[in-house]
Amino acid sequence: MKGIILAGGLGTRLRPLTLVTNKHLLPVYDRPMIYYPIQCLVNAGIDDVLIVTGDQAGDFIKLLRNGRDLGLSHLEYAYQEGEGGIADALKLGRKFSEDDKVCVILGDNIIERDIRAPAARFAEQPSGARLLLKEVPDPARFGVVRLDGDPPDGRLVEIVEKPEDPPSPYAVIGIYFYDSDVFDICDTLKPSRRQELEITDVNNAYLERGDLAYDVLEGWWNDAGTFESLHRVSRLVAEGGANQVAAPS
Ligand code: DAU
Repeated sequence: MKGIILAGGLGTRLRPLTLVTNKHLLPVYDRPMIYYPIQCLVNAGIDDVLIVTGDQAGDFIKLLRNGRDLGLSHLEYAYQEGEGGIADALKLGRKFSEDDKVCVILGDNIIERDIRAPAARFAEQPSGARLLLKEVPDPARFGVVRLDGDPPDGRLVEIVEKPEDPPSPYAVIGIYFYDSDVFDICDTLKPSRRQELEITDVNNAYLERGDLAYDVLEGWWNDAGTFESLHRVSRLVAEGGANQVAAPS
């Protein structure tokens, strides 16, 4: 499986910090934000990675070079023009993926533990996609699932992007597993009300095919896209570290 890290977008919610620095290069405690999703992939055995960036793309190369120091065997870069949405950024991964399965991770998503168990389950999945869910106190900020029962047995019914009235407390976190059909699905999408190609529409397309599974993530998860969440995740990392790999039991 290959990895795709999406680190484009304009980071408008973090202005003025993002006026001259790409959001994913801002510090989260003692490291640039982009180190965390890279480490997350490497810990899951995914070391062939594409980073999609936009503004300040050259700074990523200066920082990461060929990625060897961070455990990558192969690192490619792609440039997203403008801010067309997460699924628009993902489109740039078609050639890189070479029809392999991909693990897509948003560059501002940071987790306490690892994704080795869901990655292994997805490797066994013959086709389709797999989401990671996390129960959160503020689901209206995220993509949220409607289930017909409690996890892990409840089945997915629908995913709603930033609902005013969330159908459950389970947010869809920004780490997704897809088969190679994802790029054809991205090509069918129409821009949403906020003029973006939404990853939630991609996930709903897999749901309609009856080919979408999920796991509930263990340990904390945060995005770092707002001042409040950037501060919170920096504190969590300072207190206990991120990307902790569980010892084999
Ligand atoms: O963090 C998880 C949430 O991420 C999900 O629950 C939502 O369903 C999903 O839409 C997304 O919501 P956000 O509003 O937080 O996404 P945001 O626009 O902040 O983008 C997250 C990352 O995606 C960002 O750090 C870089 C990448 N991105 C985003 C856009 C809009 C791109 O690479 N290109 C883009 O055009």
